Amino acid sequence: MRPLQICPSILAADFSQLGQDVADVMQAGADIVHVDIMDGHFVPNISYGPAVMQSIRHITDRPFDVHLMISPVDPYLEAFAKAGADVITVHAEATPHLHRSLQAIRALGKKAGVALNPGTPASVIAHVLDLTDLVLVMTVNPGFGGQAFIPTMLEKVRQVRDMTAGMAIDIEVDGGITAQNAGDVAAAGANWLVAGSSVFKGGKATFANNINAIRNAAQSARGERV
Ligand code: DX5
Ligand code: ZN
Repeated sequence: MRPLQICPSILAADFSQLGQDVADVMQAGADIVHVDIMDGHFVPNISYGPAVMQSIRHITDRPFDVHLMISPVDPYLEAFAKAGADVITVHAEATPHLHRSLQAIRALGKKAGVALNPGTPASVIAHVLDLTDLVLVMTVNPGFGGQAFIPTMLEKVRQVRDMTAGMAIDIEVDGGITAQNAGDVAAAGANWLVAGSSVFKGGKATFANNINAIRNAAQSARGERV
């Protein structure tokens, strides 16, 4: 089993004090910063760009996991690499040349991820696995935080787990992840759990409890000591 990572989505942070929220959530025990980039074209919402990300990159040494919900995507890969991304994930639906996009991310010296919308079958990754470090199974339709987890995505996570067995590929789930479903997604094979609302709800005083609740549920499902 690959290591479990809890990845707060800073889309749910208070943008008026973004740097402080990132510092606090990492201090509270999070593993990876999940950065959602939305363009108002591929998804019906706009978030922020590489300059905002770069402005918070110094706050932690932990990896930055950049989820690009933008189309076209290839022209922006270098900007996010320069802004301090460690993993750059593109949507399979957002690039006509998925293989080329993944090659470009690897050429920038970054880990390459492929994200799949709920309606996209797992099979689209079959011929790019040699260029893939992470598969992101969307468990909501991308564009907004605070949506309800789509339970039928558990089967897709299991399919991705079976397709990637024995490979050095992480499986990430994103959207509606809570302490209530963290066990289910971990049991299905996900090891990177993104969570926005369920981590940031309640403010700084609750961040550690919120993270621990998700981590404990996932660890139990993985048969690890809690
Ligand atoms: C959705 C984003 C998610 C989102 C998660 O388009 O990719 O990362 O912010 O937020 P929650 O955990 O609130 O569903
Ligand atoms: Zn995301």
